[in-house]
Amino acid sequence: MKGILLAGGSGTRLQPLTLAMSKQLLPVYDKPMIYYPLATLMLAGVHDILIISTPDSLPDIQRLFGDGSHLGLSIGYRAQPEPRGIAEAYLLGAAHVAGQPSALILGDNFFHGSGFRKLLLRGWESLDGCTLFSYPVTDPERYAVGELDAHGNLVSIEEKPVRPLSSNAITGLYFYGSDVVDIARELHPSARGELEITDINRIYLKDGRAKVMELGRGFTWIDAGTQLSLLEASEYVRIMESRQGVRVACIEEIALRMGLIDADSCYRLGAEMANSEYGRYVMSIAGSIA
Ligand code: TTP
Repeated sequence: MKGILLAGGSGTRLQPLTLAMSKQLLPVYDKPMIYYPLATLMLAGVHDILIISTPDSLPDIQRLFGDGSHLGLSIGYRAQPEPRGIAEAYLLGAAHVAGQPSALILGDNFFHGSGFRKLLLRGWESLDGCTLFSYPVTDPERYAVGELDAHGNLVSIEEKPVRPLSSNAITGLYFYGSDVVDIARELHPSARGELEITDINRIYLKDGRAKVMELGRGFTWIDAGTQLSLLEASEYVRIMESRQGVRVACIEEIALRMGLIDADSCYRLGAEMANSEYGRYVMSIAGSIA
């Protein structure tokens, strides 16, 4: 499976925070926002990842992750000169995807909850076309909204509807079959001038090949693209980490637990940041799992 992490955009809702800095590099409590979607891809078993961002931000992100080999990953980079829409990820990422199934995740999407790995695995197992992930929200008009029938089958998707037919937001994590690039190539820009991911999803839905997996109660999904949601994400991470003593989206820990790196390498990664609590946590995890 291939992965694309889309981390560009203009971040206008977060200005002035984003005037000189990518939204995806802003802190969510103790780590840059982009760690969270990267952790989700890792949990989904995706190790070959293309990060797409603006020409300005790409060098900063590259400095953060390099080629990914220290985490047992392969990470490549591609610039998106203008934010021409989420679906453009599949035009920019066509060579990377190379006809394989893939996962696309948006750089400002935060997922956390028990049983997530198993759910992601089921998402791959049942993939035939596309698998989407929905989450009940109180403000569905801000999102793409999926309407489900009594059996949980997806019957419609609407982008930012004025009168939403359900409270199920379609989150920014998408699994696609090998034909997604061909579908993306057929798209035309929408009224707002973007290549819409919802248009790709609608094509799969029309074909009867779109599934949705519901992220239920006890699960947290945050689109951290506004001031309030950014703060809520930070608060959530702080509470989880201070109450339970475990770190959310610690990519070194995930790499170790998933067998991508060994304990010595994990310890060294922590030791490079030994002055921070995060670094000391990584060192202690290396010791406790070894
Ligand atoms: P949005 O939050 O919809 O857009 P944005 O990041 O430009 O922010 P704002 O609405 O405040 O101006 O984008 C969702 C995610 O997708 C975000 O992580 C940025 C990314 N993105 C791109 O990388 N390229 C794009 O062309 C678009 C539309 C989004």
